[in-house]
Parts: sequence; C-alpha cells; structure tokens
Amino acid sequence: MGEGFLITFQPSGVRGRAKGGETVLDVARRLGEGLSANCGGHGVCGNCRIQPAHGSMSPVTREELALLTPAELADGTRLACATRPASDASVYIPEQSRPPLQYVVEGGKSRPFDVAPEIINCYLELAEPGHDEHLSDAGRLLEGIESGYGLTGLPKTGVTLHALKGISGALREGGWKVTAAVRRGEVIRVLPGYAPGLYGAAFDVGTTTVAGYLCDLTTGEVAATDAAANPQSAFGDDVLSRITHASAADGAVRLRDAITGCLNAMLGKMAASAGIGAQDIVEAVVAGNTVMQHLLMGLPVAALGAYPFTPAVKGGMSVPAPDTGLGIYPGGYLVTLPVIGGFVGADHTAALLAAGPRPGEGVTLLVDVGTNGELAIGDGHRLITASCATGPAFEGAQLRHGMRAAPGAIERVVIDPESLEASYRVIGKQGWFRAGAKTGARGICGSGVVDAVARMYMAGILDPSGAFVRGLDNQRVRYDGPDGPEYVIALADETASGRDVTVTAGDVRAVQLAKAALLAGAEVLMAEFGVTRVDRIVLAGAFGNYIDAGNAMAIGMLPPCPADRVYPVGNAAGEGAKAALLSRAMMEEAGRIAKSARYVELSLYPGFNERFMAAIGFPVV
Ligand code: FES
Repeated sequence: MGEGFLITFQPSGVRGRAKGGETVLDVARRLGEGLSANCGGHGVCGNCRIQPAHGSMSPVTREELALLTPAELADGTRLACATRPASDASVYIPEQSRPPLQYVVEGGKSRPFDVAPEIINCYLELAEPGHDEHLSDAGRLLEGIESGYGLTGLPKTGVTLHALKGISGALREGGWKVTAAVRRGEVIRVLPGYAPGLYGAAFDVGTTTVAGYLCDLTTGEVAATDAAANPQSAFGDDVLSRITHASAADGAVRLRDAITGCLNAMLGKMAASAGIGAQDIVEAVVAGNTVMQHLLMGLPVAALGAYPFTPAVKGGMSVPAPDTGLGIYPGGYLVTLPVIGGFVGADHTAALLAAGPRPGEGVTLLVDVGTNGELAIGDGHRLITASCATGPAFEGAQLRHGMRAAPGAIERVVIDPESLEASYRVIGKQGWFRAGAKTGARGICGSGVVDAVARMYMAGILDPSGAFVRGLDNQRVRYDGPDGPEYVIALADETASGRDVTVTAGDVRAVQLAKAALLAGAEVLMAEFGVTRVDRIVLAGAFGNYIDAGNAMAIGMLPPCPADRVYPVGNAAGEGAKAALLSRAMMEEAGRIAKSARYVELSLYPGFNERFMAAIGFPVV
C-alpha cells in the first residue's frame, strides 16, 4: 500500500518515492527534508503538521483526532508521522513545522544556523518485557533509540551511570513510555512519559561582567537572560591581579567559588523567570577569557601571568557538571569553548564565531573591547589575532568620575565649539540634557568619555598632543581642578551625587593610551595581513555597541574605514556562546576558528612600541 508513490515536498520541491508502508515523516527524513518531530514520530507532540495539497492519503488516525483542532481537521491538516500516501502526492510543510533556525549577528546582517544541539530528546514507546526475555532496561532503551531514531551512526550508544540510576524507575513509572536525552551518543537522562523540556545555558564570562542566556534546546528560543558583575572583582580588577591572588593560599579556591556562585545564582534567576528548575538545564556552555576559564575549571593560572603566557589547555573541555560545582542537572555537562592563546580567550573565539570575517566580504577587522582589547583581521580564509592592553578606561574604570555603562552614566557627549557648553545623554533617561537640567547623572562611562575627548579636541579645548589648551576663558574649562586641568560636563546641581562630573587631564591621558594600544595593534595586524586599509570594522562588546564611530576615528582609535562600513554588533561573545550551545555545527566551527587563527604577540612585535608612541596623539586634519 502506497509503496512507490511519489511525494513532492513544498515549498522546497524535494521529491522522492515512499517505500513499503513509509509515513510522510519517514520519507521526509530519508530525503533530508526539514520537518520537526519532537516525539520521534509517536503521534504525541503534534510538531509534524503538514498540509497535503494534491493526491490522497491514508485515513485520519486516533492520534490526529486527539492532537489536531477541528479547524485543522476541516482544512485537511495532517500529522506526517501518522499519514501514509495512497497515491502520488504533494505535501506542503508550513513554517511552524520546520526545524527552528536561529541567527547570530554579523556586521549589518544576520547569519542563520540550524538549531541542532549536542543533546536531543528521544521519546520512546517500548514493549513491556516478556517472561522469557533477558534484555536489561538499558538494553531495551538503547534498542528503542537505535531503531526509532537511527542513532547507530553515532559513537557507541551507552547510558551514563547517572542516567542508569533512574532508568528502571522511569520506565515503570511511565508505563514503558519514556523520554531519553541523548548527548554525543550517550543517554544522560531518562524521564517517564513524554517530557519535551530540554534547556541549556550559555555564559560569556568576562573579567568585569558575566552575561547569561537560558535557551530551549528544542526550539533555540532564549527563555531568559541575566547579567551580573563578576564577583571576582573583589580580588582585583584585571586578569593579572586575579592571577596574583590565585597564587595565595586558598586564593584559587576563593576565585573559583566566587564565579561558580555567580553562575549558579544566575542559573537560579533565569530558571525561575522561565518557570523551570535549574535541574531541567542539561548543559552549560561557557566562553570566557583564558584566565576566567582556567579559574572556573580549577586549572592553574600562574603560567598565564608571564611570557609566553602558556595556557594549561587550549581546546574546549566537556566536564560532568558535579565536578564543576555548577548547579544544573547532575547528569549534565559544563562545556568550555576553545581559546586561541593566553590573552586571546574563548570569548574572542565566540565573538569570531558570531561576527567574524566571512569569505566574500573583503578584509574585516573585528575589535572586541572589554577589560582587555582583542583584535582579529581576516577575509574568511586567513585569520590573525592579537590582544592589546587597553586598560580599563573604555569600561569607565579608573577615571576620575568613571563608571560602568549602567543607569546614571553619561553615555554620549556633544560640545558646542563656540560656547564650549556640553549636551549629554544619560543611560536610563530620555533625551539630551543641557546645563541646568536635573539629570541625575552619576558619572561617565566608556562611550561617554570617548565622545567627550573627541569633542574636546574638535572644540579646541585639547591640542593634538592631548594637552589642555592654555588660556581659555570659560567656566567649563578649569585649570585648577584637584587633578589639574579638567572639563566640566555636568555641574554639581545637575548630578545625583551633588558633585561635578568632569573629564580630567589624567582621564584624557588614559583614553589616549587605550586608543593608541588599539590602533597600534590594528596597524600591526594590517601589516601582517598585507593590507593598508580594511573594508569593514566590526565593533563587539557593550562598549562597541554604544561608541560613536565618527568620534572614535576623530581621536585616531580605529584605522580609516568608511563610517557606513563600521558595524556595532553588541555582545558577540555571548551570541557565539549561545550559537555553540544550540548547534553542534557551530561548536565544531568554533574549534576550527581557534585552530586556524594565528596569534601575534604585540609586546614582542618589532616596531610595536614606535607605532604605539606615534598613535598617542590625535590625528591632525
Ligand atoms: S512527530 Fe510527534 S506527532 Fe508526529
């Protein structure tokens, strides 16, 4: 019955013949046609809805009557797993029945990828054991997975000890209907009945900030997000001070406990907001800089503090969750992305995965500014990376009135070249403010200070060397501030603290050193790549998202590039970690990126110091 009938899938146009008794789902799977089937074809999930357009089909089944609405039954909607062709036929697969796609941000565009993670759910309806059978519960489960899901091509399928402990109870409680989560050929969880929930978490662990995403592994949807300050900051602001602290007695344990506690608190918050338990999260993928990842995994960091900055491991790790202290499902795993080098970590690998150079787009420079600056240049065929010591100025740290990009931070500044009066925007407030407005400003963040320095230069308050021009008679420019010359952006009665928010000569210097490190690093990468200009610049990181590209060029922070070819992409490292969680192919690509990238050590690069010194001043136009 039905054997040999030709089925044409729409809208793809893919066609093939149904072999003896095959359902429409069987044919779609054999032809590689994308069709969702979360319950594996058991008529339970209702994901495999199709709309036959021509030809006749087998009669409607009991499962279809239970899962389809009267309106769907009336318009001919069927379940692909319950429908067999009874003639040559054409079948339309609606959008909601297609396997989900997700996107990673890519300079000005989105790059789609299939949601196909390392872990899948297999729903099984198994036969109850007969009196003369000697198959174990695990053997019965594995047979069901192999025959129902065709997972024989994977590494030898097994069942982890953790899953084995629950298998017998789950099989009997579910009446021999269970949902097994399979990861890299191993069953890691067995739940009674149809239990479709399967979640994972992705983290971008930065020196200063941690970003988290809770994702549904079956749809790719982000169920919750969270961000937190990295509590290791209490032991030092930068990676070198963390390395020093780790060498003290119990120092490494304290640092590890701090970040593990932070991740667990974020997992708890995200799980609560998504209405699931942290135990429902079966995998966590982490992208962090090399020191952050080593500290999280309890690896030694001393060698990362001195040349040649050798990591204990560069490849990604996959470790049972209980060994890491992470409070996810105890049979789950913590996975780290691969690092490129001592100072070019997995966060940069993840950023390159999400927003890195692609073939056919010319030469792209990716700039990821966090507590450290990471750079990459490539054209989709070659990739060169470097790390540069920008210092914390771009994160608003160690400035006279600096603060993180948080509510109350001055994020944008314009200075009238005639009056030298400032207008500014404050995070969390609407619109631009001028002198006299009660703005509640608390300080200035990285994008605000870059704007301020650029506008001070354009308005003639600073000279090309970065020094304050002497003799300006204006209340906004003071030469006798507590730290020497300063420019007043917000007056005390406008601010939340009741103190002026100023940019001092020391702040200008910090910005100059940071931008010189970035520009000199970019110039070295361009020289190594054999180009004198780039076609695109991708700015990653929170700072990159808010910075005004024109002002950044005006102070000589970025190499020349048309302004409409500069793309801020936000937290690309977080996007990359999420993509690696949701797609095995993206995880593999991360491995290829880390392996293929060539690392240039700027501190040893001939002529780097000369380039750095030359880049400290501002471009003269
Ligand atoms: S695959 Fe689940 S109902 Fe058809």
